[in-house]
Amino acid sequence: MPKVTIDGRTIDVVEGTRLVNVIEDAKVSIGHRCGGKSRCTTCRVSFTSGEPDTMTSAEHAKLKEREMLGQYRLACQILVTHDMSVTAHVTLDSMPDWTDTGPRCTDEIEPEAVFIKISDLA
Ligand code: FES
Repeated sequence: MPKVTIDGRTIDVVEGTRLVNVIEDAKVSIGHRCGGKSRCTTCRVSFTSGEPDTMTSAEHAKLKEREMLGQYRLACQILVTHDMSVTAHVTLDSMPDWTDTGPRCTDEIEPEAVFIKISDLA
């Protein structure tokens, strides 16, 4: 069972769970304003360890559009398959105008995941 460390806490995770849902279930109020569809980037995280070596084509397109490639990853586009340590960068606490973090993300990656190896990206 993989482990995810967030805010100094380490939790066991069912393999294949979306990272954004793991973080939310750990009571960290991470943003997911678009409902996990790779549109808003409020689920952005950075990795201390365990960054996946693949990303979905939707994540790549959005990070590139927002000029965040190499800086952040989108937790809604990542499945937990191994140990990782992350920091959430947009939370309810950091966004005074928000009344909620966004609709709960489904169990499956949306849009349908097409994974690409980061090493294959130009
Ligand atoms: S991009 Fe909106 S929740 Fe991930």
